[in-house]
Amino acid sequence: MANLKNIRPKALLGLLVIVLLPILAACSSTDNPLTTFSPKSDVAHSIQDLYVIIFWAATAVFIIVESLLLYAVIKFRRRPNDGIPKQVHGNTALELTWTIIPALILVAIAIPTWITIFEIDDVPADAYMIEIVGHQWWWEATYPDGQVTANEIHVPSDRSIGFNLNTADVLHSFWVPQLFGKQDLLPGRTNTLWFTPEVEGRFFGQCVEFCGISHANMRLEMIVDSPTVFAEWLSGIESPAPAPAALAATGHDLFASKGCVACHTISGRDDAVGVIGPNLSLFGSRLTLASATLPNTTENLTAWLNDPEDIKPGNIMARSAPIYTNPDLALTNAEIDALVAYLQSLQ
Ligand code: CUA
Repeated sequence: MANLKNIRPKALLGLLVIVLLPILAACSSTDNPLTTFSPKSDVAHSIQDLYVIIFWAATAVFIIVESLLLYAVIKFRRRPNDGIPKQVHGNTALELTWTIIPALILVAIAIPTWITIFEIDDVPADAYMIEIVGHQWWWEATYPDGQVTANEIHVPSDRSIGFNLNTADVLHSFWVPQLFGKQDLLPGRTNTLWFTPEVEGRFFGQCVEFCGISHANMRLEMIVDSPTVFAEWLSGIESPAPAPAALAATGHDLFASKGCVACHTISGRDDAVGVIGPNLSLFGSRLTLASATLPNTTENLTAWLNDPEDIKPGNIMARSAPIYTNPDLALTNAEIDALVAYLQSLQ
């Protein structure tokens, strides 16, 4: 019988931590925006089902192997006065067993994996296709009829949604964990993804391929709308924003005179057709700004216009826009207030 008094408390604690850590890790809430444990689409469910199979297979292997190991360590430990143990060299039956069983397990895992990969590989022919372009560090989405938006990507709930994925600069990877798995955006190649939503709602996404200093700030939201709400939103992109009130009107003019128009497009403005930065049509109705990193509030928008480098280090606007590179052209507080009012009026 094992003498437990010989096991040191520290070793026991270490063992306990090793056993408990993975269990605790599994307890993270499904409210976590990057959870994969709460799938909300057909594709996400397929991936989750596969995960469950592999998780329990791995758990069974872990328990069996560790139990045998512990049994052997305790039962065959060295005791005082033990002589040299019996010397053996190989055991064909044992070696065959521990080769064939893992091979069978791998085959058992490979079959559903293979089926799932093929299942989710081809975009359905009737999918609603959206072009996604990754930029350092934001997302551009172009709809089938040419409407363009950025970072908050609305989709209809009543059909399969497909994406053609491209990049404007370096590698990125597109991932909305509750809706679909990761797919890389590669220069010179179009990758695809698709899913069919199961519920309406807002789903958090994140770039998952390191793409420079603000990689972590390259987030997005996918918003699954009812077909009516989606159609309204989509047509809203094209209709010019209502005439701005006094302060916003000043911002409207500053948007041109301060050079913002060189990089940003706003529907209904002939002078604002830049494509280097995110399309800002309907910006006022977005709930987030700076690639879904901050709530779209007056305070955050003011802070963003005041010092974008502070919020998203390395971004092109902070690096290249004359209002940030030339101190003589820097925005005054009053000008920022006017631009904020104008951007918020873009509903
Ligand atoms: Cu884009 Cu990381």
